[in-house]
Amino acid sequence: MTSPPQRTAASPTPVVGLTLGCDYNPEQWSPTIWEQDVRLMRQAGVDLVAINIFGWSHLEPRPDEFDFDSLDRVVNLLHRHGIRINLGTGTASPPPWLTTRHPEILPMAADGTRRYPGGRQAWCPSSPIFRRRALALVDEVARQYGAHPAVALWHVSNELGCHNAHCYCDESAEAFRRWLQKRYGTIETLNDRWGTTVWSQRYGDWSEVQPPRLALSAGNPSQTLDFHRFSSDELLDYYRDEVAVLRRHSTKPITTNFMVTAHIRNLDYWRWAPEVDLVANDHYLDHRLGEPTAELAFAADLTRGLATGRPWMLMESSTSAVSWQPHNLAKAPGELLRNSLTHVARGADAVCFFQWRASAQGPEKFHSAMLPHAGTDTATWREVLRLSAALNRLDEVAGSTVEAEVGLLFSWQSWWATEGESRPSQSITYLDQVHRAYRALRELGVTTDVVAPTARLDRYRLVVVPCLHLVTDDEAAAIEAYVAAGGHVLVTFFSGIVDHDDRIRLDGYPGAFRDLLGVTVEEFVPLLPEVEVSLDTGARARLWAERLRVTTADPVARYVEGPVTGVPAVTRNSFGAGTAWYLATELRADALRDVVREAIRMAGVRPLGPEGDGSVEVVRRRADRRSYLFVINHGTADIQYTAAGIDLVTGDVVRGLVRVPAGDVRVIREESA
Ligand code: GLA
Repeated sequence: MTSPPQRTAASPTPVVGLTLGCDYNPEQWSPTIWEQDVRLMRQAGVDLVAINIFGWSHLEPRPDEFDFDSLDRVVNLLHRHGIRINLGTGTASPPPWLTTRHPEILPMAADGTRRYPGGRQAWCPSSPIFRRRALALVDEVARQYGAHPAVALWHVSNELGCHNAHCYCDESAEAFRRWLQKRYGTIETLNDRWGTTVWSQRYGDWSEVQPPRLALSAGNPSQTLDFHRFSSDELLDYYRDEVAVLRRHSTKPITTNFMVTAHIRNLDYWRWAPEVDLVANDHYLDHRLGEPTAELAFAADLTRGLATGRPWMLMESSTSAVSWQPHNLAKAPGELLRNSLTHVARGADAVCFFQWRASAQGPEKFHSAMLPHAGTDTATWREVLRLSAALNRLDEVAGSTVEAEVGLLFSWQSWWATEGESRPSQSITYLDQVHRAYRALRELGVTTDVVAPTARLDRYRLVVVPCLHLVTDDEAAAIEAYVAAGGHVLVTFFSGIVDHDDRIRLDGYPGAFRDLLGVTVEEFVPLLPEVEVSLDTGARARLWAERLRVTTADPVARYVEGPVTGVPAVTRNSFGAGTAWYLATELRADALRDVVREAIRMAGVRPLGPEGDGSVEVVRRRADRRSYLFVINHGTADIQYTAAGIDLVTGDVVRGLVRVPAGDVRVIREESA
């Protein structure tokens, strides 16, 4: 047995070991409660507290009048108790005096109506007045606390683009035009790239170009795509402005909380991630999805991709129910620990919650917290203490990185392009297709890196390319080169169809991947949602078919019924030294898993976890000569897993079959490593 390792310095989080943290909104409570809060935070082992996220109306109650008294008290209180601070710049929501004096900062919807204040994030990302006012506040906050020893991290704004990513006001229109001018140089180039000959849209002058405001019919998809890109860049520009102000007064790391989660797709985080000092994500289980736990694993793997494989921070999650879904489910016993350690298994070095104390007022008064309304004699509080103890025992895991042999390509730009207004089938949604491919891998026990289409691919035995509808020439060439050199790839339908401008790649689908896949498709043949067709392998398929011919590929499965009977639905092509699979339909989950199983077998992928319904997750983190095996049992029956080493959760020495009780987690520091 090796001796216990030293804590690693490789973790980018501002606290040694694994961090437990939370958002804290002391402005909602009286100072007597603050004392109690900090005592309980210490009891719960809280290391890092995010404050001043929505502080603006307190800090600047009237224009240019700043009052730091209560924030000073909170900062010093936390500092006295040795709790580090993740300090918000306070700009997330403008105070009422600002929106009253300057209603022009309020965002405008696509139909030209303004959004009133009364909620949060009521500001236009292109508003110069908002920016000037917000940056003035950041300057004051940074001047005040930039060198404070308790401040460990800067938290810029909050979930940028959650509500206000797309603003269609005149100010935004101007900014959009400036962005387009920079991108295209001349109006002729814009006309060409947007295909404005269609429907008489040719522009003679920049001033004629608009954001994609609500029109009578479908709009120009290239314009909409560029508006997505512009909106993401505009907020990134805003982020950079806050960073520049912070940097005048502080050398502390700076970040902002991303929203890598289902349903929010406003920002191209591949462009954002290189700009933050530490990748931080907010994640909540979404019970509107079929399999929220699988989506959690996917989001964590994608967040790790944004962090280029390095450890990252879970900036927000919930101890139990949220308050913004139609049905806000409470977590079952043990679920908090499993959810949190799934993030850790997949690369998080910090687990933080929204929020510390459950609000008594406001729109989030029914949102769970570390400290519930009912106080400490509660299951949630006990679950928090249990998590805290587990994180302490796992401190040495911090800084290690996750092992994966499969890469899955993910693209926000392709997401935007896939879901254009006019498309072959409204039932094809990007995230759904991506999740299906991911779930098949997860159910086969495979750990997957979710990476950008521009990522280095040669470290993977298999690369999965789900629904990469928009692909650039360079990205397509890199995928081809990877396979030519011996890589294995699995591409799913509707990939490779359009170029960077959303222009169809001609001469047969799937344009960018035709040679690689050894097929050519003359027509898409979508199926109605209720239709299912059989393949000659016995598999069942739905939603999508293609009038496809193989050129160099071998058919793996053909339709035996439906509109393209006899046509291949699954193919495999030898390309250079590698292999390229094509799925030209949506296979039912079991059939999809059969194909993926064969693809990983041929590629030599060695799954860590058992094959099943995804209720058992096994992931390995590694650092130099140490490795940690996370075995998470979401199921209702005990399982056994073969391992040797020390179980850091129980402290037991284990060798051979390790029992993981139903609903529990084991983390084994492996002996052999
Ligand atoms: C987001 C926000 C928080 C809070 C939570 C609730 O993550 O950043 O302020 O509203 O959602 O789930």
